[in-house]
Amino acid sequence: MGDNEMAMKTKEVPESPHHLSLTMFGAENFLKEPKNIPIILIFKMAAIQKVANVARETFKTILIDKTLITDKLNILKCLCNEIKAADLNITLSTQEALSSNSARPSYSRPPVSYMEIYEDKVLTMGIFLLRKGSRIPLHDHPGMYGFCRVLYGTISVESFSHIDKDISELNVPEFEEFQDKPGPDMRFLTPTKHNQSGEFSSNTGTCVLLPRIGNYHELKAVDGPAAFLDILAPPYEPERGRDCLYYKLLSEKTGDTKWLLQIDPPRDFWCDNLPYPGPEVTFAEAQ
Ligand SMILES: [Fe+2]
Repeated sequence: MGDNEMAMKTKEVPESPHHLSLTMFGAENFLKEPKNIPIILIFKMAAIQKVANVARETFKTILIDKTLITDKLNILKCLCNEIKAADLNITLSTQEALSSNSARPSYSRPPVSYMEIYEDKVLTMGIFLLRKGSRIPLHDHPGMYGFCRVLYGTISVESFSHIDKDISELNVPEFEEFQDKPGPDMRFLTPTKHNQSGEFSSNTGTCVLLPRIGNYHELKAVDGPAAFLDILAPPYEPERGRDCLYYKLLSEKTGDTKWLLQIDPPRDFWCDNLPYPGPEVTFAEAQ
């Protein structure tokens, strides 16, 4: 390959953190020497490993020192914004191929599939694949941080936040769902405030939820199948009060308080596990 050809090829490469780092170190000239290519490949870290490295350091630090949280989370959010489906070897056809390989008939296939990328005591990383018209019902991540980066398709997110009042300080209204019936069991009722109704795609930023903001949320695939990278920290751990619970938004027309009633997992939602086809994420320290 001549120098001109190489120059043209270099221009075609989209700007990415990997490309920028190679350019900064003058690696383009270095790459022209075929004998050097294997050495460069060693240094080219997968984008998802970079995200994992920053995520793990961020959440390890946050668990000890909660200062400077915003800066750390913003850095991680920017890095997540760069992640594309191709970085994880995920395409819409991957989802279709894996679904069609299932021995189950189409009507009984799970509405949602999960691919685990990595999990330890600090964080869990995976990919959720939503079939057309499916949703992950209103649920929470108690005391946890969550990053959702859409890889393809569009996902609508509706979320609710904790409010800093005890239920005993509030007037519990009469709910339409309980007309002519005894009211809801107060133990399963949570007052919240609306946080966000928005749509996310690979062209938007990463959706972030915090322990007190947007922690109750529902995600729906809009106009077709969709997939998103999911990073949670710390992971679910029911023994430490971090269990995933499901909720129903009760209708109440007056006031800003949104009342959520804890319910059993909805019957139209279930999830299977599929193999993750992308680059491996590892940490020497965690092994
Ligand atoms: Fe969630």
